Amino acid sequence: MSQITTGMAAQYSDSSKLAARARLSRDFSRAETPWFTWVARQLPIGPDATILDVGCGPAWFWSEAVAALPSGTALTLLDQSRGMVDEALERCRPLPFASLAGVTADAAQLPFPDGAFDAVIAMHMLYHVADQEKAIAEFHRVLRPGGIMLATTNGIDNMRELYRLTTVFGSGPIDPSAAAFGFDRAEQLMRDRFGNATLSVHPQQMRVTDPEVVYLALTSYPPGSDAPADQQEAFRAVIDAAFAAGGGALDVTKQVGVIVSRKSA
Ligand SMILES: C[S@@+](CC[C@H](N)C(=O)[O-])C[C@H]1O[C@@H](n2cnc3c(N)ncnc32)[C@H](O)[C@@H]1O
Repeated sequence: MSQITTGMAAQYSDSSKLAARARLSRDFSRAETPWFTWVARQLPIGPDATILDVGCGPAWFWSEAVAALPSGTALTLLDQSRGMVDEALERCRPLPFASLAGVTADAAQLPFPDGAFDAVIAMHMLYHVADQEKAIAEFHRVLRPGGIMLATTNGIDNMRELYRLTTVFGSGPIDPSAAAFGFDRAEQLMRDRFGNATLSVHPQQMRVTDPEVVYLALTSYPPGSDAPADQQEAFRAVIDAAFAAGGGALDVTKQVGVIVSRKSA
């Protein structure tokens, strides 16, 4: 089991560590349509849909996406972290949903009957799940015939200019999320279960001008978060060297996308 599928309780007891990583994209990614709005537009649903958000985290998505979705959505927020579910519910309560529920559960064992939802979304979470096939089978089970599964994840070249710096921690030079559930694997597993899967990549650029934000993002999870002081210092040194070589900024490749499957009617 890789480090990305372990240590979830420490990583996601609340949104603070996730926020350190989200800050990189929030402050330094540029796109014509912001990520969450763009994702919402990839979700082919009509009014009065029932949606399950698996691994909802703090529900930052919904604050932005609710404006881009049809009215009447009945939303169920699910996460294995109780702290995340509580934060997600608090964020979503003022938003105009037809109904709102929060559930603490595992993605691979969903406490819902067959065919309960029009759409299941799993944004940047399946790379944490040890048995991804089982989770996707569960998403398929709880969808009604004709229902939609939407997953988001990263491509293998995502932020390669930054991940190659993490080799000082003994990590591989690639995005660990993409190594565990990249575009190819996501498409393959979803096609295996649903018989169809379509990948769309979000057009965006990243130019980072603050080395400290890079340091905080990439030491917000293991092994960087648990690395000894000499490795942390070495990490700061390679970040500073990369920024110096780039004249004070780093142009970073972004590969982030959505995979959509439809359950046969
Ligand atoms: C990277 S965050 C993504 C949050 C949100 N979906 C987003 O895109 O902003 C991953 C979330 O998945 C949750 N998670 C990880 N493994 C899970 C599992 N097996 N079942 C349910 N939730 C899980 C974590 O607790 C965390 O809140």
